[in-house]
Amino acid sequence: MVARIIDGKAVAERLRASVRARVAERVAAGGAAPGLAVVLVGENAASQVYVRSKRKTTDGVGMQSLAFDLPATVAEAELLALVERLNADRAVNGILVQLPLPKQIDVERVIERIDPRKDVDGFHPYNVGRLVLKMPLLRPCTPYGCMQLLAETGESLIGKHAVVIGQSNIVGRPMALELLMARCTVTICHSATRDLPGIVHQADVVVAAVGKANFVQGDWIRQGAIVVDVGINRNADGKLVGDIDFAAAQERASWITPVPGGVGPMTIATLLANTLRAAELQDV
Ligand code: GUN
Repeated sequence: MVARIIDGKAVAERLRASVRARVAERVAAGGAAPGLAVVLVGENAASQVYVRSKRKTTDGVGMQSLAFDLPATVAEAELLALVERLNADRAVNGILVQLPLPKQIDVERVIERIDPRKDVDGFHPYNVGRLVLKMPLLRPCTPYGCMQLLAETGESLIGKHAVVIGQSNIVGRPMALELLMARCTVTICHSATRDLPGIVHQADVVVAAVGKANFVQGDWIRQGAIVVDVGINRNADGKLVGDIDFAAAQERASWITPVPGGVGPMTIATLLANTLRAAELQDV
């Protein structure tokens, strides 16, 4: 079997077009363009690339992108004060603080300070709790984007065994909750998991969010499985690769997301959809 490609670039383009049209409608009706504040602390190279891309794409759908760049040495109190200013600013509908943050800053304290209705990352305990309770409001962008890619296959997820590799707050955990809500039987694997290859081999759906180039071997993948690769890594040749050995996995999977051009574009498109949703929530 040679897998069909789930074209994240195309799905993301469609989602952005729909957001762009809805933003234009709001503006035509006399409303303000939704505003997304993106806060970048320090000079992490990967974060700089992601944030630049988020800001550019925000402008591209007719939203207002507000940039806040703080030095790596910023005090936690100063970052919290900025979050509070953004919470109170009616021109700001979404607040995203790019992670990771420098060591002197307590990440959870910063996330908890964001108004849950402006939490377009879906990381606030309120929004995570709503996802746990099957009543999602603002949903973490990467997992929600992955669900839209899975929908693109046209395959029913009901009763499928989904194996998520990775347990981070950003991807693995909310991904497992999304799959559970879609009525999958869900297994979460992490660095203490025994017999990872054996468990992955039982999966109808594999989602890899490990952060290690080509970590998941092709022969771990069961024939016909649907494979979603969240990883964005540089290999020894400087090439962008995922967490999954794509060439080998493609020989076995029924569907697979490429890197680049799979999950990555969906994360940003979903962020914009979340920002529009946040603006709508704040209308009432
Ligand atoms: N760092 C890596 N991924 C993300 C994300 O989705 N949101 C934020 N805020 N930081 C990240």
